[in-house]
Amino acid sequence: MSATQNIRAKVVGTGHYVPERVVTNADLEKIVDTNDEWIQTRTGIKTRRLVQEGEMATSDMAEMAARRALEDAGLTAEDLDMIVLGTVTPDHHVPAAACRLQKRLGAGKIPAFDLSAACAGSIFALSVGERFVTGGGYKRVLVVGGETMSSIVNWKDRNTCVLFGDAAGAAILEAGPADGPGIMDVIIRSDGDMYDVLYIPQGGSAQPITPEGLAAGEDRVIMKGGETFKYAVRTLTKTIKEVLERNNLTADDVSHVVAHQANMRIIEAVAQRLKVPMEKWVTNIQDYGNTSSASALVALDSARRSGNVKPGEIMVFAAIGAGFSWGAGVLRA
Ligand code: UT7
Repeated sequence: MSATQNIRAKVVGTGHYVPERVVTNADLEKIVDTNDEWIQTRTGIKTRRLVQEGEMATSDMAEMAARRALEDAGLTAEDLDMIVLGTVTPDHHVPAAACRLQKRLGAGKIPAFDLSAACAGSIFALSVGERFVTGGGYKRVLVVGGETMSSIVNWKDRNTCVLFGDAAGAAILEAGPADGPGIMDVIIRSDGDMYDVLYIPQGGSAQPITPEGLAAGEDRVIMKGGETFKYAVRTLTKTIKEVLERNNLTADDVSHVVAHQANMRIIEAVAQRLKVPMEKWVTNIQDYGNTSSASALVALDSARRSGNVKPGEIMVFAAIGAGFSWGAGVLRA
């Protein structure tokens, strides 16, 4: 439940950015042993947007998304009190990419930090932002999910390289009345037993990059896809049900679902189990691929800009990713 009874964190602006370069499944057929039919039927992905090498880093995309969110909210960077950036692909290992974002936006000396929850980065960052807003003292928090997944994908591994895309999504949370629009509730959880089901083995403090590791692609993302798939369907379904139930809501009350986009089949399976028809799910995986911490925030922005979200409607947001970490929340539009 939200931290105080008299404040709710309202979404007052959203924005997103994807790189210009469109990479089709046919383009990937030239690099790995794959084909358009396999990618589309197994994942739903038709294209993804990828940065050109050296074109831009995560903070650049985050800046574009954040500027659009500020414009949408009718605010300037000086109005912000905090920046939370969900990312596993910061510009540099040190320091936080959020600090670079703060400087670029001209946001003043407000706290700015990265949050590492992989594909659940959107919901973890929203949850942290919500707490700072409802806990008092932070009137407006910029929440961003930004990923340059192309920088950590193994371009020789067909199991993973066809899945991911680069993007950033942003939302500005502002303190508002508890009975008004905004985030009603968020659940976040993690399961460290799944730590090495989806991870980058080398390049951290546990294992430095070795020549053998480099040759084997252990400095890049590896994933046990089937295990991840099953866990994602089970956990997303359970957590969305839980957050609806504890807010006395049913599937029929939900107008839109803005969930992480890992695989269209995951979305369809969860939709079927929850009995929330596919028309209510905002999808971008077909065009953008899996953009990790960006995807649910990109979906939230698309939903708000579509003109189909009516004030007062109930939206569900949810995500799951490496860790494993996941969450689900409800938002009154
Ligand atoms: O965002 C964070 C969390 N991530 C996820 O939630 C991803 C979850 N997992 C998935 O979305 C799916 O498991 C994948 C899309 C990754 C894989 O789909 P799958 O239906 O589970 O396929 P699979 O891994 O069981 O592979 C089936 C076959 C294998 O060949 P064999 O062993 O049956 O001969 C793979 O080698 O498909 C092969 N394969 C490919 N073939 C063509 C794997 N990748 C490709 C490819 N093109 N790109």
